[in-house]
Formats: sequence, C-alpha cells, structure tokens
Amino acid sequence: MTFTDELRARFEDAGQGHVFAHVDSLEPEAAARFAAELAEVDLELVGRLAAVLEVPDGAAADPKLEPCTVINGAEPAEEEWIAGMLSLAAGEVGFVLVAGGQGSRLGFDGPKGAFPVGPLTDRTLFDWHAGRILAAGRRHGFRPTWAVMTSRTNDEATRAFFAENDHFGMPAEDVWFFSQDMLPALDEDGRILLSGPGELFLAPNGHGGTLQALSKSGVLGRFAERGVKTLSYFQVDNPMARPADPLFVGHHVMNGSEMSSKVVPKRDPMEKVGVLGLVDGVLGCIEYSDLSEELRETRTADGDLVFNAGNIAVHMIDCGFVERLNAGGDLDLPWHVARKRISTIDDAGAPIQVDGVKFETFVFDALGRAKATVTLEVDRAEEFSPVKNAEGADSPATCRADLSRLGRSIIGRSGDTVEVDPRAAETADEFAERGLSVIERAGGLLVEPGA
Ligand code: UTP
Repeated sequence: MTFTDELRARFEDAGQGHVFAHVDSLEPEAAARFAAELAEVDLELVGRLAAVLEVPDGAAADPKLEPCTVINGAEPAEEEWIAGMLSLAAGEVGFVLVAGGQGSRLGFDGPKGAFPVGPLTDRTLFDWHAGRILAAGRRHGFRPTWAVMTSRTNDEATRAFFAENDHFGMPAEDVWFFSQDMLPALDEDGRILLSGPGELFLAPNGHGGTLQALSKSGVLGRFAERGVKTLSYFQVDNPMARPADPLFVGHHVMNGSEMSSKVVPKRDPMEKVGVLGLVDGVLGCIEYSDLSEELRETRTADGDLVFNAGNIAVHMIDCGFVERLNAGGDLDLPWHVARKRISTIDDAGAPIQVDGVKFETFVFDALGRAKATVTLEVDRAEEFSPVKNAEGADSPATCRADLSRLGRSIIGRSGDTVEVDPRAAETADEFAERGLSVIERAGGLLVEPGA
C-alpha cells in the first residue's frame, strides 16, 4: 500500500491529515511519487515552523542597534594581500556559488545563472562567474574547485546548462553541484499547503540552507580532500562579485576570522539594502525595514552614514566553522517568514488562492555565531551590480550598464559599450600587464583572453 497506515498516522497526529484529501483520485505513479515526497517531510520541523507563526509580529523586544567595525579596503594592506595570494596559490580557497533561489522578481524562464548580461556578447551570469574563477586559477597558479548550489526546481536545468556550455571552460570534474533542502509552505494556521492534488507546495529553504547542504551533501568533505580550508561564497545574481580577491582572503586569514563579509557604502539613506551591524552586541544584518528613519539618516562627523555597511552577500567562510555549525545535526539559524499569496487547492480539490507563508534561513545569520569576523568595505562600482528585478533598479539594464562602465575603466576608454571577458582581465593593471588588445566589434569594444 502506497500510503501506509504509519504514514497517515504520522501526518494525522501532526494535524496535517488534510494532505491525503485527494489521494484516491491519483494515478498509481503519482500516488507513489506523492507518498515518497510525504515520507521525506520533517514533521517535527514543520511543527517548529508553525510555532514561529504563533509569535505575533513585533513581539520581539526592541534590539539595540550599533554600527560594526569596518575595514576600508582602499587602504594599503600589503601583508594581507600577500597572505591572500599565498592561500589562493596553495589551493586553500574553494568556490561556492548559491543559485538555488527562484528568481521570481526577474521572472526568467530557466535558472537565473543562464540569464544573459554581457553588454556586447550576452555572456550569461554563470559564464561571468566561471570566467572569474578560471582567471583566478591562472593568476595565482592553482586548480580551482567550484561548487554550485541549486534547488530541486532548477537542479536538472542548471546541470544541463553547464553541460551544454562545456562547463564554461572548467574541467567537468572541478565543477560540483549540490542541492539545498525544500520546505513546505504553510497557511496562516500552520497547515501544509498543496500546489495540486498529490503535490506539496515546496520552496527552497533560503540561502542559509547552503551551510547545511554543504555538509549534508558531502561537498564539505570533498573540499577537505582537495585541501580547501575556506569557502568563497557568492550569489548568482552579481556578475561583478570577485570570488578570488587576495585582499579579502588575506584579511580573513590574518584575522583568524571564521566568517568574513564584503560591504559597500549605501548609495543613500533610503537605499533598500540590509546593513551589517551589531544587534544587541552581536554581528548580523539589519534589514532596511528594521532601521528607524532616524538611525537610517544619522551621519558621522565626516558626513558618512553611521549605518553604512551595505551587505552584498559576499563572504569567506571557514570549512571548520561550517562543520561546527552542523555539529548538532541542526543548524539552528533563525527562521524568516515571507508572506505571499499562494495558489493551492481546497479539500475538494478546487484551485484557490490563500495567504501563505514560506520559511527561509539567511546565511548572514551565521555571522553572529562566528568566533571572529572581518567586514571589508569595497568599491561598489567594481564589485556589485546584482540582477534582481526585471526593470528599474538592480535590473538587467543597470547591470549591463555597470559591466560596460567597468569595462571602460579597465581599458581606459570612454564613450563606447565595452565588455571585458573576466578570463582576460579584472583590473586596469592586469589589462596593461597582460598586453591585451581591444577588438572593435559591432556595437562596441571587446577584450578577450589571449587577444
Ligand atoms: P534572493 O534573495 O535575491 O532570491 O537570492 P531569489 O530567489 O534569487 O529571487 P526572488 O527573491 O525570488 O526574486 C539571493 C541569492 O541567494 C540564492 C539565489 O539564487 C541568489 O543567488 N538563494 C536564495 C538560494 O540559493 N536559495 C534560496 O533559497 C534563496
């Protein structure tokens, strides 16, 4: 029997017996699939998530918010730079790209990393990242390993896209894929939602899920076998992220940091970006909406915003720290709830829309658990231009314009649309040192490796 008495009893005891409402209408194959899906649901966790909903919004005490210490990345730091280069050259840094999100704001049909953003060549997000990693291997003389986190909704398509593109020039055995967990969405009463008869409404468990998935998937162990000690964490939507920055690696290593972060100064007080800061004395990310207007606007004697450490979700994370976080078997990061209208079905099987809740953990919540941290401020114009929305701020249009502007500054020209393949050069100095030439091409100027 597909839906065993034991399975039914478990769900009924947890107050979730309604998930079986439509099973009599399922074909045997669909029934078997659904039973397997149900067997994987961690009902104890679902119970804890439902309990989160019982805490009224705003029930938490008003925390004390303070700015955190930030190192200015523009200041000379030769020792750190050298330490970072040595660590990279020794192959101690492994690369972790998180690409398990749903990209719903962009609304692109396919994994977000397959989205084209090259100002001249339509180079995809994945290609930008691969190029930067390959160039780091060439620059520092090591064999890079790249782990890409997907989720169930895009895992197959992501692997296929990498295979079709010959892994963007990386040896296939150096590119690993691993998937984060999915969680059922709940209604406001904590009942598991179905997306159709015999189908749970599942959503990825947030980028905090990376820390658990690294361990659960065995990827952390495989990194250790390759001699990797620190993970360079970055997100799929920012093609300007520099995953192998010797300065960042060096600050991380020399400070004995367990988790380090890059930040950029906020554009203005109203920019809707989270800032790193101390929450009741503990380092974390303060969401835009959690900062009062007064704190948002407060400035130092120099005129800078006091809460100015805009979080760009670029981290160095020690492998030992990830192991420690997973040691108890439960990552224990706080749950964030996202309330959305969700298309589901009622007990009679009719499609309806309800107010539902998705649950996520966030990677930056691990900062407060690290014994030592480093926060490094970098130049937004060089390192941050995410593709989040279909139009307006942080969209393909702004990202292409930023990549072109960066290209112009690398080759020292103004006016044209420019695209510099990250495999060729990341900075103006590197462009000059390598003696690369600029190719004229319809619509602008292109720099390619070896050109
Ligand atoms: P976002 O918070 O921008 O979410 O993710 P998203 O899912 O990509 O986009 P929206 O909100 O639906 O429009 C920031 C980064 O974290 C990854 C994303 O793939 C992106 O690289 N992420 C997010 C995951 O890997 N897993 C998640 O569960 C959530």
